[in-house]
Amino acid sequence: MKALILSGGKGTRLRPITYTGAKQLVPVMNKPILWFGIENLVSAGIDQIGIVISPETGAEVRQRTGLGDQFGARITYILQDKPSGLAHAVQVARPFLQDDAFIMYLGDNLIQDNLNSFIHEFQQNDLDASILLKPVVNPQSFGVAKLAADGQVIQLIEKPQIPPSNLALVGIYLFSPTIHGAIAKIKPSSRGELEITDAIQQLIDDGKTVKASQLAGWWLDTGKKDDLLEANRLLLDTCFQPPSTEIEAIHSQIKGRVQVGQGTTIIHSVIRGPVIIGRDCHIENSFIGSYSSISDGVRLLDTEIDHSVVLQSACIEGIHHRIVDSVIGQRAHLRTNPRRPKASQFLIGDDSQIELV
Ligand code: DAU
Repeated sequence: MKALILSGGKGTRLRPITYTGAKQLVPVMNKPILWFGIENLVSAGIDQIGIVISPETGAEVRQRTGLGDQFGARITYILQDKPSGLAHAVQVARPFLQDDAFIMYLGDNLIQDNLNSFIHEFQQNDLDASILLKPVVNPQSFGVAKLAADGQVIQLIEKPQIPPSNLALVGIYLFSPTIHGAIAKIKPSSRGELEITDAIQQLIDDGKTVKASQLAGWWLDTGKKDDLLEANRLLLDTCFQPPSTEIEAIHSQIKGRVQVGQGTTIIHSVIRGPVIIGRDCHIENSFIGSYSSISDGVRLLDTEIDHSVVLQSACIEGIHHRIVDSVIGQRAHLRTNPRRPKASQFLIGDDSQIELV
């Protein structure tokens, strides 16, 4: 079986972070979201992976992720010239997929479960498609399934205004090559995309075997800030095992599960885990609260931060009211001007969201 990871698209809901980079490369627990998917696929025994990329962010995805050696996989990159939909991405990937069965994995989705039983069931029962469902409170934001009393899928609708159930389609699907015929029959949706949801509906209408299972563990589509923070929290809560080596820090208190990368200096600070800090950071006179991930090269001086994700080489200086539930972009610089401590001065990127309290 092959895998197709979708890492194209525009990432509009994570702007401004995604103006300069791919949303699938935004880190949670200091690792790009995309890499969790690759690791999950490899641990299910799949090592032929195609990654769909866009012209805007493809080079960065390719450069950071490489040809797969670090994961024990063989990665092929497939350029999709426009984000014309998930089913369009499958069409573009046809030369890679050939007539093999495949698992399609949306590069911004994160799940807790491993994929073994999902794949096993698909193969044992010789299905045309297998989908995963999860109850959500906002089904309007997803593909939604309507099931019969016996669990058979009757209908799938993409982002319905009036959802027929609270069962959202998780962004991980298994397909036999019959999906290509179904995609050939569908038309673009009202948002102008070839929807994979419509292609699966086509399989159902054609009398093919489509099986739905409910996902047991947590699932997050990390397309928005709060989902990203929640993914970071869940991963630090459930999967974070820092090495037991002692952390070097000067006049500091370090409590709970904390990991600190090489070359990082910690002076006169309090860190309350779970917290992950990358390499070559400088933390001084600062507080870092639980469920925070601090990437490489970050400087925190006279700052309090909690439940936040700080990206590479950002610098936060002299911010005395606590920063919470925040995502700070790469190389962003937040500081108070000691000569004008009561005034705020900003140079804020397009589409930024700042809440001052
Ligand atoms: O997260 C689950 C949801 O994912 C499902 O419930 C929906 O049925 C499904 O349509 C999809 O909805 P989204 O609106 O969240 O999809 P999004 O546009 O965010 O794209 C998902 C991933 O696929 C993301 O990593 C970008 C990539 N992508 C997207 C498009 C439209 C591509 O590679 N090419 C594309 O053309």
